[in-house]
Amino acid sequence: MARIIPVPPFDCVVFGATGDLTLRKLLPALYYRFRDGQMTEDARVIGAARSALDDDAYRQRAVKALKQHVAAGDIDDGTLDRFCARVRYVRLDATKRDADWDALKLALRPECVRVFYLATSPDLYGQVCANLGAVGLVTENSRVVLEKPIGHDLASARAINDEVGAVFSETKIFRIDHYLGKETVQNLLALRFANTIFERLWTTDVIDHVQITVAETVGLEGRGGYYNRAGQLRDMVQNHMLQLLCLIAMEPPVSLDADRVRDEKLKVLRALQPIEPHDVAPLTVRGQYSAGAIGGQPVTGYLADLGTDEPSATETFVALKAAVCTWRWANVPFYLRTGKRLPQKLSEIVVQFRALPFSIFPADAAEWQPNRLIIRLQPEEGMRLSMMTKDPGPGGLRLSPTGLDIRFEKTFNMRFPDAYERLLMDAVRGDATLFMRRDEVEAAWKWVEPILQAWSGRPDHPRPYPAGSWGPTGAIALIERDGRTWHDEIE
Ligand code: BG6
Repeated sequence: MARIIPVPPFDCVVFGATGDLTLRKLLPALYYRFRDGQMTEDARVIGAARSALDDDAYRQRAVKALKQHVAAGDIDDGTLDRFCARVRYVRLDATKRDADWDALKLALRPECVRVFYLATSPDLYGQVCANLGAVGLVTENSRVVLEKPIGHDLASARAINDEVGAVFSETKIFRIDHYLGKETVQNLLALRFANTIFERLWTTDVIDHVQITVAETVGLEGRGGYYNRAGQLRDMVQNHMLQLLCLIAMEPPVSLDADRVRDEKLKVLRALQPIEPHDVAPLTVRGQYSAGAIGGQPVTGYLADLGTDEPSATETFVALKAAVCTWRWANVPFYLRTGKRLPQKLSEIVVQFRALPFSIFPADAAEWQPNRLIIRLQPEEGMRLSMMTKDPGPGGLRLSPTGLDIRFEKTFNMRFPDAYERLLMDAVRGDATLFMRRDEVEAAWKWVEPILQAWSGRPDHPRPYPAGSWGPTGAIALIERDGRTWHDEIE
């Protein structure tokens, strides 16, 4: 069992309390932290939303959601009752400044840490924060947690950051990128900075290229309205994928202090070579899934999922080649690939080392494969270092690639907590290391925006790819043009 350090007493107000994120992710995360004794008996969760519910009716919804989203073996009636006793509900339209705020004011304790979690549409962040300030709810001990996406482009991100920043100082703003809360993503810091062996190899002299893949089998999941306006570049690349790239590419921070870590990530974002309009075609590929099959089951195409016959220029797949312009990463391309309705759910980072400069072995001794470090974020979290070894036995010298393998779940034999468990408790503690700072979010938009603009100016639509495939053929060409191959094509 992992060591649990209880957090201080807190009141967590969740705006958007009846929404999908709250019911599917936030309440289960808080339940687990309560069950494991990290959230103490005096902590409170206050749901706020427009629906006309009272405490009991909201608790019933919470129980239903918990039974659905917490593993059956992890839930028992006693703990559930004790947890629900911590849950309250306030009916409130957070965009209006009316007497309904009084009920929230009364529910909050002056001496406790206050976490205002905005699980609402990002267009409302400014207004909700302005109201929190105006009704006098923001204390020294208050923090605000914002879900992604922060904006739709650089200008809208700046506008949201300005509005939120007018009420909360930057150290009190916790912008969530839930990938940073994943155990294996945090493990990237341990891999690089708690071991001596890799850091010395982490350079252009030794590394040939890096691949980052975030593949999902799901399609729209009832989020067509949002997704069709956003697309995969905004939804996954601007945040999750670039954060992963930063953790791989950053220089060692001088400490684990939130700002020191974020300073280093920011330097990477600023070192990303801008993709100019004339580079968009050779360096990026966008696709949109059509009908196909996943795991032997037929699935419909994007437009059918959206429920329209109208063509859509929204991409559900992106592959791109990025360059980090620093001494360490000169001539080391970063290939990024992410999409919906791909053959499997898989997030992994592959660091491929350079090929042998010279071989003393006969040419036919092996199927040569350069060394690769494969960091598997999900599923089957772990790491594998692929190396050439001699096949056992007499009969000549034959070599094959073999893996040094760590499977985290097997090694530690414990449940992997959901990212939101870690992030919520960090927000209560006031530790912003795993949250995005304003300048990071804006630097990421600055890099992504020219790609979006170039795409929207082009007459062609995203290339179709059948659901259950690895995206349009252009994605394969993108890497094969450079004499390299996506990892799944090899294994
Ligand atoms: C979210 C995106 O941020 O991440 C979703 O909005 C995506 O579209 C999800 O499905 C993927 O997260 P995970 O943790 O399942 O890899």
